[in-house]
Amino acid sequence: MDFLNGFFLPPSADHLHLTKYLILLVYFIHIPFVSLLLGGTFFSVFFRLLAGNQRESLNWRISRDFIETLVFRKTAGIILGVLPILVLTLIEGQVFYDAEIYVVHFLFYTTILVALGITSVYFYQSTFRMADIHPLLQLSSGLGGLFLLFAGYFVFSVNSALILDPGRWATVTDPTKFLFSWNVIARFLHFICAAFAVSGVALVFFLFNWKESLKEIDASYRNTLLKLGGGIGLTFTLLQPVLLFWNLITLPDPALSMGVFASTIIVLLLILFISLLLVRLVKNTDFKLGTNIFVLFVITLVFMIINDHLAREDAIQNHTRLLVIRADGIAAEIESERERARAASIEPDLAVGATVFKNQCSACHGFEQSIVGPPYNAVLPKYQEDPEKLAEFIRNPYKVDENYPAMPKLGLSEKEIKSIVAYLLQEENKQK
Ligand code: HEC
Repeated sequence: MDFLNGFFLPPSADHLHLTKYLILLVYFIHIPFVSLLLGGTFFSVFFRLLAGNQRESLNWRISRDFIETLVFRKTAGIILGVLPILVLTLIEGQVFYDAEIYVVHFLFYTTILVALGITSVYFYQSTFRMADIHPLLQLSSGLGGLFLLFAGYFVFSVNSALILDPGRWATVTDPTKFLFSWNVIARFLHFICAAFAVSGVALVFFLFNWKESLKEIDASYRNTLLKLGGGIGLTFTLLQPVLLFWNLITLPDPALSMGVFASTIIVLLLILFISLLLVRLVKNTDFKLGTNIFVLFVITLVFMIINDHLAREDAIQNHTRLLVIRADGIAAEIESERERARAASIEPDLAVGATVFKNQCSACHGFEQSIVGPPYNAVLPKYQEDPEKLAEFIRNPYKVDENYPAMPKLGLSEKEIKSIVAYLLQEENKQK
């Protein structure tokens, strides 16, 4: 897949600075959406399996409500699901330009797996609106979509964990080589559990806030969903501290900093608070709490993303510094290349050369006689074969002959230099 490497331009320092915020933005857009997608599909498939072939049974109803409520319509799937990882692939290609790390390849796999997974999940969702659908087709599209999404985000976890460990960049060339790193496992489980937790909470939130029609559903089903969503939210929220801690102790050293510790503590406090609210929600079936919990959970997700981002910035700071230096070098190279091309395109003009000679050179130089500088007849013949060398001497005069003082630099334009060179060499030829 070497074609991927030739695809990116070297980034400038400003550009690199911007990528930090772009990456955060992509995460803010993508992670909440995909969390609901994953959780919604997982629980829907779970209850669909429990329902067996009994259409319109309680489990069937729950399964349908999970997939209908948590998985937004197809446009969202493209804009919030597939597009952000594609954009992320392009950004990371810039950030890791010239680094020996397989980021772009891994993100490429992720994009394909997630795109296929999302497609399959949307098909699964649509089967609930079909009057007649083969149960096997329905289940396999749900399970298949889940599998692809899990695989996609596993590769994604491998990728994020690898970025945090610059010491291994050059050695990990495919995702399987990194399978058994504890940080990968911790990161993956943490992501999945956070996705499940927010899905449980979101079920309560969306069902009772947005879907007007569902407000009229019977009280007993309502309580079932409330307890279920709250229970799922609570269970997976309670797992968060363990997974957060696990992630923290498996982080490679270059990724650790005060910022990472501080944001982990903020996340832990938020999780504690959310857990207390969730207990109240489940106990008192007080669904109004759902909104507060959901908002808090979204804030927690934002802090989790920031936490991860800080670890990442610490881990890659040496790489970024090097790249900025290199980027300046590359920019200077491109600039001097342009300068050369510009100079090459300038044509000499004998009339200009004659004027320059009269105004700038004749005070010190004649062809026959020595004035301040040596006579041209004595010094020009050696330049007949190499006009560029003469141009270079006029551009930046250097010491040649002991018997003369040094010639001052005259500050001529490139056009004037070319013209005076052409003029002098022509005049010198005439003298012969
Ligand atoms: C202020 C006096 C002064 C002016 C003006 C001046 N030169 Fe010179 N030039 C010198 C001196 C002095 C030397 C001898 C330098 C040495 O040998 O180190 C010299 C040397 C040279 C040489 C000989 C280099 C060699 O290889 O030995 C060339 C060619 C030359 N000048 C071209 C020019 C041209 C063309 C201009 C006008 C655009 C110009 N000079 C303007 C003082 C001047």
